Amino acid sequence: MQITTESIIWITGASSGIGEALALSCAKKGAKLILSARNTERLENVKHKCFLHCSFVSIIPFDHEDNETLLNAVSVACSLFGRIDFVFLNAGISQRSMTRDTALHVYRRLMEINYFGTITLTLGILPLMLRQKSGHITVISSIAGKFGTQMRSGYCASKHALAGFFESLAVEVYTSNVKVTVVYPGYINTPITLHSLTADGSPYAKMDDSLLHGISADKCAEKIIQGVENDKGEIIIAGLKERTAVWLNRFAPGLLRYILRRMDPIK
Ligand SMILES: NC(=O)c1ccc[n+]([C@@H]2O[C@H](COP(=O)([O-])OP(=O)(O)OC[C@H]3O[C@@H](n4cnc5c(N)ncnc54)[C@H](OP(=O)(O)O)[C@@H]3O)[C@@H](O)[C@H]2O)c1
Repeated sequence: MQITTESIIWITGASSGIGEALALSCAKKGAKLILSARNTERLENVKHKCFLHCSFVSIIPFDHEDNETLLNAVSVACSLFGRIDFVFLNAGISQRSMTRDTALHVYRRLMEINYFGTITLTLGILPLMLRQKSGHITVISSIAGKFGTQMRSGYCASKHALAGFFESLAVEVYTSNVKVTVVYPGYINTPITLHSLTADGSPYAKMDDSLLHGISADKCAEKIIQGVENDKGEIIIAGLKERTAVWLNRFAPGLLRYILRRMDPIK
């Protein structure tokens, strides 16, 4: 299904990074947009940029850690047009801490934001899409949803969980004409590490070199939309290093772990 001026699109995590870039790309196609995240000021800013290209942008703030705001957002989003054609479940947070140092509450937070928040929204909009007999759900996992690596055990777990959930959902809803795409980005140049959780849950507050030299958020959004419009079930957006790691994990996992053990966990 192509994104057109008739398309109604809900993008989560739209206040920054990949979500903001997705919002702008969809706006340039003239689609009607619903944007969500916590920070309303930043969402308003994105809304103004989108309005240069499209005629309808609505903001529905929510917090993945506050179930009530999620359920309210689902009901508002579903009733705006009585239809949702595309949803990009992109909101998420990362981690920079070794497993042995990390408090249990940090793992719970990562799962709450990345996994439970995302599936709460999915369970909310699924009945509408099943009734419509159309719709496309896209979730942003990560290369970290393909294999485990240092300093990200909770993040990797949450992204593997998303991959498992949405791969299963894809098989279940295929005959109802609801499409599901799982996106696995590698290093993308966004501020994600500024808010990444450290061992005690405080923000990491630094940008990693690997991200600064990563693929731009605009390019990432462009590739996501291209893949979604071409009905790809899986989209990997990554440099050669991460792509090689995915290949090694599949065909020579021992060798990948040997390499990962020797890598600087921060880079
Ligand atoms: N950048 C990368 O290299 C990379 C690689 C692989 C996967 N990803 C994934 O891509 C997605 C987008 O990340 P990004 O790189 O664009 O990072 P980002 O710029 O930090 O964006 C994260 C978005 O998630 C929202 N968010 C965070 N916590 C939230 C919460 N509790 N409730 C609601 N919204 C929340 C943020 O908005 P508010 O702060 O306003 O709530 C923001 O809009 C994430 O799922 C991330 O795991 C990123």
